[in-house]
Amino acid sequence: MGRVIQQDTTRFASVEDMIDRLRPSYPVNCLWPSVLRNAAAQFVKSFPGDVLYAVKCNPHPTVLKAMYDGGIRHFDTASLAEIGLIGEMFPDTTAYYHHPVKSRAMIETASSVWGIRYYALDHLDELDKVIERADKDAVAVVRIQTPKTDAVFDLAAKFGAPPETAVAILKAAAAAGLKTGISFHVGSQCRTPSAYSDAVAVAGKVIEDAAVDPVVFDVGGGFPVNYVNSPAPALDLYFEAITQSYDALGIANCNLICEPGRALVAEGQSLVVQVLLRKDCKLYINDGVYGSLTDLKASGLVMPARLIRPNEKPADLFDDFTIFGPTCDSVDVLPETWRLPADVREGDWIEVGTLGAYSNALASQFNGFAAETFVEIES
Ligand SMILES: Cc1ncc(COP(=O)(O)O)c(C=O)c1O
Repeated sequence: MGRVIQQDTTRFASVEDMIDRLRPSYPVNCLWPSVLRNAAAQFVKSFPGDVLYAVKCNPHPTVLKAMYDGGIRHFDTASLAEIGLIGEMFPDTTAYYHHPVKSRAMIETASSVWGIRYYALDHLDELDKVIERADKDAVAVVRIQTPKTDAVFDLAAKFGAPPETAVAILKAAAAAGLKTGISFHVGSQCRTPSAYSDAVAVAGKVIEDAAVDPVVFDVGGGFPVNYVNSPAPALDLYFEAITQSYDALGIANCNLICEPGRALVAEGQSLVVQVLLRKDCKLYINDGVYGSLTDLKASGLVMPARLIRPNEKPADLFDDFTIFGPTCDSVDVLPETWRLPADVREGDWIEVGTLGAYSNALASQFNGFAAETFVEIES
């Protein structure tokens, strides 16, 4: 995250304009501020509660500013660096410390320097840290395990207390005088709206058994976007499922919140790469799974790929190509092929779309390759 330092990103009228002017032999992240802003505004308008942007998904300053301009005033943060970034950029907003495992020093700093009130946790020992180091008005947001879903990324394997444990943690938090909350994450790129209502019902039972009055009810992230091989149901179906199941619980004086990442930013960024070498149906390009394409390796998701060859029309026939990244490591290959004009060749550019989520956020500098150039596209 520390490597993203550009504040004033160069603007171009289109991806083609950028290619004409830069002729880039390095990968270029293209940010679309208006697309990002509109996605945030639409989500804020339609979700029946407060929308927290999950900073981890893409912490680039242009992305964060677009989220703010779209009406986001709450942020899901997982580290002191993210809390500091949001605190510095948007002092009038609220950050939630929603990583369930923190050091005591981190909690103390979050509380005393940044005034953080909301702390996720899923274990009694973590509650002990929050009681010791956070302010007295802290909210213990207990993350619970919920039923497995069809999400592309399962996020329940690492965090989330089983319901009985969650009941005990909530009771202990209330007994210690803290306010309480509940949260879950159904997994990222979750294709089934009813996964949320199922999880809301589990959370409702935990609250009832613990006999607490939560002040926040967090349905997490996981909202999907359309990828070539992973179509997404309309977001309104998710919001309906959440509204109905949440209202059925009849919890008074509690704030419903969510913390999406992918659904807010995926469509607002693309990546322009260049073909370095073609070997039959294998293409070697200048970014890969150690750079901005990590999420594709782990998930098998396919993003739209568009060939750009200025001043010359590519072939009308298409073929499937295996995509290799620039590093020496043989792991640096995508699991799925890309469908491109059959005459693709060295020097051609390819724009990979829907790449705003978990792209630059995960990129490394392995082998000296780094996709560190960001531009903005006006649209
Ligand atoms: C605690 C938490 N909240 C929110 C998110 C964002 O999830 P998504 O990008 O699937 O919306 C994540 C993703 O890892 C997460 O771990």
